[in-house]
Amino acid sequence: MATMESLIGLVNRIQRACTVLGDHGGEGMSLWEALPSVAVVGGQSSGKSSVLESVVGRDFLPRGSGIVTRRPLVLQLQKTEKGQPDYAEFLHAPNRKFTDFAAVRKEIQDETDRITGKSKQISNIPIQLSIYSPNVVNLTLIDLPGLTKVAVEGQPESIVEDIENMVRSYVEKPNCIILAISPANQDIATSDAIKLAREVDPSGERTFGVLTKLDLMDKGTNALDVIEGRSYRLQHPWVGIVNRSQADINKNVDMIAARRKEREYFESSPEYGHLSHKMGSEYLAKLLSQHLETVIRQRIPSIISLINKTIDELNAELDRIGRPIAVDSGAQLYTILELCRAFDRVFKEHLD
Ligand code: GDP
Ligand code: NA
Ligand code: MG
Repeated sequence: MATMESLIGLVNRIQRACTVLGDHGGEGMSLWEALPSVAVVGGQSSGKSSVLESVVGRDFLPRGSGIVTRRPLVLQLQKTEKGQPDYAEFLHAPNRKFTDFAAVRKEIQDETDRITGKSKQISNIPIQLSIYSPNVVNLTLIDLPGLTKVAVEGQPESIVEDIENMVRSYVEKPNCIILAISPANQDIATSDAIKLAREVDPSGERTFGVLTKLDLMDKGTNALDVIEGRSYRLQHPWVGIVNRSQADINKNVDMIAARRKEREYFESSPEYGHLSHKMGSEYLAKLLSQHLETVIRQRIPSIISLINKTIDELNAELDRIGRPIAVDSGAQLYTILELCRAFDRVFKEHLD
């Protein structure tokens, strides 16, 4: 429904405006926390960054073996009008429009190193990135460092706990949709993703189980017990994925080729052929955006009341700092106010 899409779009813009502004001093739950986002959780090298990239449909994330993702990446996807060119923008470099996505990946790496050094250290400080494209669904996605079992050379002993606490701080939010990533070539009973997801979302209502590396399973074994929900039951269906291998990455296999290969894998698979329409990255992206719509629909009353409260607070804040809005934060408050009013308007039209 077009109206729902514009509502989600507005929610994302309000979220981004709030992020730019930081905490505007409101009490209780902030608007940011009231709005849904999607975070990936899983062990190191389970394929988290690869899955996010496929959901987006663009190549732009650093991937590889070892600890590659060392800061949270908060990624806002913004659907634009058909025919518009894709581009990306970082919050830390607002005046630079990236049209080359290889440069986006390089900037994520550089910006990670700026805070953590070229070490294997991690940082809680998120990198904020927006991608504008006619080919994405409106979503906020969060890429996170992988859960580990032991510290490696150059890392403090506390890193195992530090990463777990960082990841938990994102996924424990009741409005966070969890993409729990487990590699199919490891026993599901040992999955760090499922362990943490179960802890923060015991009913499984906001957890999507994603099984990667189906292509790397031992010959003679398959993942049907997991995918069909017999090993570990979740409220939402499990989705099997085949991402690019390290060899594919080294050969620069692009997204279109990777998706085609994935589709062919499922369609020609003797084990998963009958499920092929419910497998793969494109299906996962569709499933997620449908779920997001449902969630936003359910949350509309509470979002509306938060927005009204925000409008009141912002009006008070603007009165306090004075209406002539020369300073940046004043302009930003004003933007949020306008977006909130627009949300209210679109929502009321939707009701009639
Ligand atoms: P992350 O550490 O969880 O973010 O994982 P990455 O996305 O960086 O992937 C880690 C490594 O696993 C990379 O070398 C990927 O190429 C490889 N990989 C991820 N998913 C798959 C998959 O489905 N099949 C194969 N063959 N390799 C994968
Ligand atoms: Na990795
Ligand atoms: Mg990663």
